[in-house]
Amino acid sequence: MNLGIFKTYNDLAINTYHVDPKIFVALVLISVPFYWYGWLMIVRSIFKSKSKEGNNGRIIIERFFNNREFKIGLIINRLAWFLPYVYIIFWGQNLPMWFWLMLSIWIIFFICLFTLKIRRIIITPDGGRKQYRYLWKIYAYFYDGLLIFKPYQSLIELILEKADLKKGESVVDLGCGTGNIEKMTQVGGVDFYGLDFSDEMLKRAERKCPDYKFINYNLTDYNIPLESNFADKVISNNVIYNIKDIEKFCKDVNRIMKPGGILILSTSIKSGLKPIAIEHFKLSKPIDLLKSVIFLPKFLIILILNIFIDRSGDFYFYSEERLQKVLRESGFNIREKIYCYGDVNLLITAEAL
Ligand SMILES: C[S@@+](CC[C@H](N)C(=O)[O-])C[C@H]1O[C@@H](n2cnc3c(N)ncnc32)[C@H](O)[C@@H]1O
Repeated sequence: MNLGIFKTYNDLAINTYHVDPKIFVALVLISVPFYWYGWLMIVRSIFKSKSKEGNNGRIIIERFFNNREFKIGLIINRLAWFLPYVYIIFWGQNLPMWFWLMLSIWIIFFICLFTLKIRRIIITPDGGRKQYRYLWKIYAYFYDGLLIFKPYQSLIELILEKADLKKGESVVDLGCGTGNIEKMTQVGGVDFYGLDFSDEMLKRAERKCPDYKFINYNLTDYNIPLESNFADKVISNNVIYNIKDIEKFCKDVNRIMKPGGILILSTSIKSGLKPIAIEHFKLSKPIDLLKSVIFLPKFLIILILNIFIDRSGDFYFYSEERLQKVLRESGFNIREKIYCYGDVNLLITAEAL
């Protein structure tokens, strides 16, 4: 049997990586079958991509990269390739520059693949619209971490103060999330209707507030499933940056409101998380800061999701002027404007005419 290839590995171990050649060669031997099995899966996925209908070049390439077998094959192949190098990274000495370079390139390649995959999971196309159901689905698991976050608490309190809810009123919360506005309402006997398109958010809202009605509805359908002249008050906090056609949205909101009804609309008008973080430190008592440290992992995930919302360029941070104009044209009389939430949010109180 020609062991030439193993002689090469043997020499590499001794002369280049300065590790025990027996361990290195043994690891190579273990990894070889997986390495070739990975390649086999990749090659098979090329043929599978070709054999389906619609064989133009772009479709074949897209199908190939989205092929499950290709992805699993690539992961098996690269992990097998990587196995002996784990040993070298930790035990090798005087490793050459090209080794670190090669390793960095592979790590960057995998980070890019992973990021693209995450982006594809988060953005779910739905009839030509970009939808972020998965973003909100993931957010739902962590969302209530915001409740120990002082600026968020103060924002909800401010919204409720401005809404001035009364017993017997019909109140619609558009994009109700996990129902924190409903939960923090002190007044009893309010008829709350929470609308949101995320089942995970709604599940939590129903659990917290079993007496209120929660409806799964996509606000970008622009046809709220409630009668005209239905609501005394409409609240929407940090939702409209998801709405592309703000004109249609405001007109539809006006339709469901009784004349003289009050709309409380709060939304981010500029991006940036720093002012909110500063406000958190300003408003928090030591016990709140301690809680933030305990719940740090939750905060970090919330932070990552917010950075995505902030930076992706796929959300609509409407300007104050645009919002005022649209509200007026949709039949509202603006009563009050307040900057809040570290001055990142604008809270508008408007009366439906
Ligand atoms: C930042 S959260 C705000 C939740 C709640 N208003 C609060 O203040 O706690 C945004 C909410 O809007 C919902 N949402 C986003 N796009 C939506 C759409 N197109 N239709 C319905 N709900 C949507 C999300 O599921 C999420 O619950």
